[in-house]
Amino acid sequence: MTRYLLAIDQGTTSSRAIVFDQSGGCVASAQQEFAQHFPGDGQVEHDAMEIWESTLSVCRSALKKAALEATQLAGIGITNQRETTVIWDRATGLPVHRAIVWQDRRTASLCTKLKTDGHESTVVERTGLLIDPYFSATKIAWILDDVEGARARAEAGELAFGTIDSWLLWNLTGGRSHCTDASNASRTALFNIHTQQWDEDMLALFRVPGSLLPDVLDSAADYGSAEPHWLGAPVMVAGIAGDQQAALIGQACFSPGMAKSTYGTGCFLMVNTGATAVRSENRLLTTVAYRLNGEPCYAVEGSIFVAGAAMQWLRDGLKLIRHASESSGYAETVGVDNAVYLVPAFTGLGAPYWDPHARGAIMGLTRDTGIGEIVTAGLQSVCYQTKDLARAIQNDGAALASLRVDGGMVVNDWLMQFLADILNVTVDRPGVTETTALGAAYLAGLQTGIYRSLDEISGLWACERQFHAQMRPALRESLYAGWLDSIERIRNN
Ligand code: G3P
Repeated sequence: MTRYLLAIDQGTTSSRAIVFDQSGGCVASAQQEFAQHFPGDGQVEHDAMEIWESTLSVCRSALKKAALEATQLAGIGITNQRETTVIWDRATGLPVHRAIVWQDRRTASLCTKLKTDGHESTVVERTGLLIDPYFSATKIAWILDDVEGARARAEAGELAFGTIDSWLLWNLTGGRSHCTDASNASRTALFNIHTQQWDEDMLALFRVPGSLLPDVLDSAADYGSAEPHWLGAPVMVAGIAGDQQAALIGQACFSPGMAKSTYGTGCFLMVNTGATAVRSENRLLTTVAYRLNGEPCYAVEGSIFVAGAAMQWLRDGLKLIRHASESSGYAETVGVDNAVYLVPAFTGLGAPYWDPHARGAIMGLTRDTGIGEIVTAGLQSVCYQTKDLARAIQNDGAALASLRVDGGMVVNDWLMQFLADILNVTVDRPGVTETTALGAAYLAGLQTGIYRSLDEISGLWACERQFHAQMRPALRESLYAGWLDSIERIRNN
């Protein structure tokens, strides 16, 4: 009997569920957007109940579209927007505050203080991360301090913390399972990536009571079964990974040196470093890619906060385009040699600058600048930011031989060609670009015996198109120099 895998991909702007067959083929999918709340300057929140309800609803729709019963599922894999922080009441299951989203900068001054007090090197050494509002730790502390009585209740063991994977798992299992996987734990700034334990010193530094925390399991594990009434039968949650790590798995980047870049809301470039947690000298992150059979596999990560979100802003904020797909038409007309630069530092700058106070800007405007130049600059900003990461990787002593790409934006051929040109690296676009969900399905498939090994999964990866660098070196250098100049103008630290 063919068995199927249900992947939940709970992202920053939508909840999705995809049913995969055993060969990694997509059978059916469903997607639901949910509200983004911006309660103040630099603040981004989600309603955690809406996240759960939309997730359940897309799981049901995907199964229905696939004409499958839950009994035909071997397991569920969860992948999720990382770092986003939920704290809920263990007794009622209700969140005590809206989820604070990874993009939220409200804890920037606390982070500056921790850095000024000299704590960053210990944080880097233990967690592989830097001190930045991006990670969960300061978001947890903020909720505990802001919500009346929350800190005391947390210390009394009445509250639970989770990233979105834990929150969904808790709900799916009817409150029986409070766990996360090592890849998600490694994004909290509380997890020691070397000992694979929550780190007591980090808990003390960020003022987070240990009683809040979930158990940390392998990325492929028995996380408990979904309550039968949710999907019609109990189904094991058998795999969990943060979305960027899941994309690395979906791209079958299992050997050291293999790299992927995912273009969703943000852009996250990861290079597999195998069993060694490589420490970057150029402000990249060291993170757990996945943990299987107790063995962590590490990655170096460059995190950019705004990629697809820049297109969304051009569409919904400025209303320059009606659909993201219109952008390539503009770019083809304008061409690559565009002197307008859009720096989308809407939520500060991530790697390698880590400047939470930076603001976005459009530069190089002249009287004849039109919509086309600005839209093209938006696309180009995604590639320039990837170049910033590639340079940091190179300065760390590694080089990108090729790059596997995925995420919604990679359907844009113009963008992929410009990416290859500006990076001077071959860009490989796979046949299945739903790699994040696929990675979660693979993990669940490993746990439930559908796949025997990572090698077997590697055999399922297929390239759809390669983009080779064609740009003249002098043009590449001058375009990128213009970008670096724009970045310098908007930096705040
Ligand atoms: O670290 C944040 C990341 O996990 C968000 O991913 O795909 O929602 O942009 P995405």
